[in-house]
Amino acid sequence: MNEALRALRPYPMAELQRRKASLRDQGIDLFDFGTGDPIEPTPPMIRQALIDALPTISQYPSVAGTPALRSAVADYFQRRFAVSLDASSQVLPSAGSKESIFHLPLAMLDPASGRDTVIYGSPAYPVYQAGALFAGGREHVVTLKHSHGFRLDLTALPSEVLDRSAIAWINYPHNPTGACVDLAYLREQAACCREHGILLASDECYADLWFDDAAPPPSLLQVTKEGILVFGSCSKRSGMTGYRSGFIAGDAELIASFRRWRAAMGVGSPTFIEAAATVAWGDDAHPAERRAIFSAKRALLCAGLAERGIDILPSEAGLYIWATVPSNGDADAYAARCLDAGIVISPGGFFGNGGDGFFRLALVPSLSDCERALAIWPS
Ligand SMILES: Cc1ncc(COP(=O)(O)O)c(C=O)c1O
Repeated sequence: MNEALRALRPYPMAELQRRKASLRDQGIDLFDFGTGDPIEPTPPMIRQALIDALPTISQYPSVAGTPALRSAVADYFQRRFAVSLDASSQVLPSAGSKESIFHLPLAMLDPASGRDTVIYGSPAYPVYQAGALFAGGREHVVTLKHSHGFRLDLTALPSEVLDRSAIAWINYPHNPTGACVDLAYLREQAACCREHGILLASDECYADLWFDDAAPPPSLLQVTKEGILVFGSCSKRSGMTGYRSGFIAGDAELIASFRRWRAAMGVGSPTFIEAAATVAWGDDAHPAERRAIFSAKRALLCAGLAERGIDILPSEAGLYIWATVPSNGDADAYAARCLDAGIVISPGGFFGNGGDGFFRLALVPSLSDCERALAIWPS
């Protein structure tokens, strides 16, 4: 067995799924704020595009993806960020961003070269760690601080760490905290990575889910297209978690290398999924509708939890509420208390160092279920 598999801690969401399943088996009705898997329907035009594209004869998809999908992603970048991308060399589809995030170090890391380290901040989406470990890399984990807006500041790291690093991950809007950054921050991090020869990888899974129309989150691609890769996803933006579809965009040379690696691995996205994703990236109305729904849930929950004395950290985007455990208590014990009441939350420790003392709510249950949950919420 791969040593990394032995060392892997249970995927937190898998653990939660097991606990939820056992409660459901006992007939307990749950308000599930655990996993970030939205329940709002996939827009009909996206579903129809998939149906229309189902082929009579099914053949292997290409790793490069359909030209139509790559163009739809490039057009989206033009509309959303005023960034021009060359659809043939700077965009690559993925089978959801999780696999592409996991696979990046396998393609780009050469531990024997001495550049063996992957940097990421914590608390975090757990896949940055898993990808680094399975690629035989070393991790350098930076604990993100509330006092610093949960920003990963690469410029503050010792040059000894930077000079042995191959990849640095940033993720804004941030899961789990909802922290956001501005273009000045992205410029500084890109400059630091350029100076130290590090591939800067930006996970922008939540880029289209903001709460305040005055401040849509920026993309790293607004700052540079060199030495960087941006990871995007249809999952939360378009209600397509089950479709498994995303993209990788950025530096043409890095994209070409990653494409070669992905062809060797055989990660292609089915063409009928790509047809649906093409429609998704071509439309800005449905993400706006979804933003309105998530914002309404967020406003309701924030007001209700504040009434119960729960301190919610400010955030401008994402799919989550990040809050302090009441009475400075233990997050696991609080999560267990919530579960007894039928409410599923994620204790901050699920997301690694820096998560202790906090808990995360995914804006998943319907507005009326949010109201029902608030009525029984433990303080
Ligand atoms: C920060 C972050 N990145 C990436 C993903 C993966 O998204 P998907 O594989 O559905 O595209 C998630 C999913 O929850 C996430 O929270």
